[in-house]
Amino acid sequence: MKIGDYIKSITHALREAGIDSPALDAEVIAAHFLDMDRHQLVTWSDRVLSDSEKSAIDKAIKRRLKFEPVAYITGMKEFYSLEFTVNKDVLIPRPETELLVDMAIYWAGLNSSVLDLCTGSGAIAVALKHSRGDLDVCASDISAKALKVAEKNAEKILGKRRISFFEGDLFTPFKDEKFDLIVSNPPYVSGVLKGGLQRELDFEPHDALYADDDGRAVIRKIIDEAPLYLDEKGVLLLEIGSNHRDFIEDAGRKRGFTVSVLNDYAGLPRVATLKK
Ligand SMILES: C[S@@+](CC[C@H](N)C(=O)[O-])C[C@H]1O[C@@H](n2cnc3c(N)ncnc32)[C@H](O)[C@@H]1O
Repeated sequence: MKIGDYIKSITHALREAGIDSPALDAEVIAAHFLDMDRHQLVTWSDRVLSDSEKSAIDKAIKRRLKFEPVAYITGMKEFYSLEFTVNKDVLIPRPETELLVDMAIYWAGLNSSVLDLCTGSGAIAVALKHSRGDLDVCASDISAKALKVAEKNAEKILGKRRISFFEGDLFTPFKDEKFDLIVSNPPYVSGVLKGGLQRELDFEPHDALYADDDGRAVIRKIIDEAPLYLDEKGVLLLEIGSNHRDFIEDAGRKRGFTVSVLNDYAGLPRVATLKK
């Protein structure tokens, strides 16, 4: 079968199954397994697929038809224009989290120390260090499996520019340490929504997505403990749920922070800045 005809047939199958972006997903998957850029699929649309190429893409499409996210099928996700390795041990980095990186770049003074709490794939820490080589970046996660992925990404993307990784529950690895800036995209989806959202979310680590108390439990703990780990003029940047603005402003002020909340490009509250 020719590439062009095959793309049409798998797009149709994905559409029939109720996948949101069937043409895009078909192209991304096919391009990945053919080791091409997406635009080359058009240039090469008359090229006939080999049996092994077709069988590899067929297998991948079967996974997508079960709603497995494209990023887990290809094993990669672009974030901050960098290519991150991902697998089922880590949350797939989201475009809206790029705003948190922008804010961190803005707030971090020259040569300052930065902690990325709940680092997952390392997306935030690695993107930050890639843009700002002067920063001294530490990153941590409770999941040893996630940290393996983060370390791999740091090595692949940063080479010799190092990040220090730590395993543990929130601030436990950082007793007596202080940072100029703490950034975090913690789990903040309400546990009661489990199973009721997009089917793709069922494939991501639940500990990365969901938190108790309507998604507030981990954020609350970070806000409560952060003052102990921030320098005198330190800043805490948090990605938050779109329904968390009032809660963050209240919890932050109670711990002595000045709080402001920035909306994302969709107009939803997304990044909270808490200044000591
Ligand atoms: C929403 S994901 C964020 C991943 C990555 N920072 C990103 O933005 O793509 C949250 C991460 O927090 C980690 N996590 C959950 N609870 C934690 C805890 N109590 N202490 C440290 N990390 C935790 C999870 O393992 C997961 O990797």
